[in-house]
Amino acid sequence: MDGELLEEQLAYYRARAAEYDEWFLRQGRYDRGPEWNRRWFSELEEVRRELGSFGPTGQVLELACGTGLWTVELVRYADRVTAVDASPEVLEINRARLEEFRTETPVRYVRADLFDWRPDEAYDVVFFGFWLSHVPPGRFDAFWELVRSALKPGGRAFFVDSLRTETWAEKQLLGRDPQGHTTARRLNDGREFRIVKIFYEPGDLERRLADLGWRFSVRTTENHLLYGFGELRAQAIRRRRY
Ligand SMILES: C[S@@+](CC[C@H](N)C(=O)[O-])C[C@H]1O[C@@H](n2cnc3c(N)ncnc32)[C@H](O)[C@@H]1O
Repeated sequence: MDGELLEEQLAYYRARAAEYDEWFLRQGRYDRGPEWNRRWFSELEEVRRELGSFGPTGQVLELACGTGLWTVELVRYADRVTAVDASPEVLEINRARLEEFRTETPVRYVRADLFDWRPDEAYDVVFFGFWLSHVPPGRFDAFWELVRSALKPGGRAFFVDSLRTETWAEKQLLGRDPQGHTTARRLNDGREFRIVKIFYEPGDLERRLADLGWRFSVRTTENHLLYGFGELRAQAIRRRRY
């Protein structure tokens, strides 16, 4: 089915581990000039504030944790964080970043493929940053079922992702892809990989999540980010438990 694509996507993130933060920090080829960068950082700050108001407290599960750019936010609020990713390379960077951060909050690392991983405990909060857009459309429901299965009754979820594509070249590629959900990504050394990349409209996403039993609020920042938070409706929790 989409197994090869998902392998290539993971191979891309493994190979990109050491250069991943350049994108987030707008360095090197991701530097889009002072005005663009200023907006990016200010919109990230807006989402960090929203995450703070949401309050990722208690036992927190971070899916596709990457190099720890959001793990450092979660440890400010959580009693404990379990951080899952399939790439040992990013987990190593995450661990080093958290050590440098000198948090008191324990972080447990799990190396696992999210497309066949089942949580081994229940959490108060599930968080995922820049991951939903990499879940193939045919796996959308199963992914949200994974989130549901990881939560304690009354548990909550928060995600952040890209609002829309950043470059004209990527738009062209998405346009040419008949299914509209894959795109090409290049590493600093020129190697190219195909990955899944899906952009959601807030209203559509809210409706789809409502159909799956979630009460979610999905919002955007002015240019760059989509984020959302919510919980399962009571009936949906009952459906799971009985
Ligand atoms: C776009 S990055 C997001 C990282 C981090 N959440 C952030 O916002 O900086 C996607 C992450 O998903 C991980 N990943 C890719 N395929 C995966 C899979 N099948 N299972 C678990 N993690 C996977 C990659 O290793 C990478 O760290």
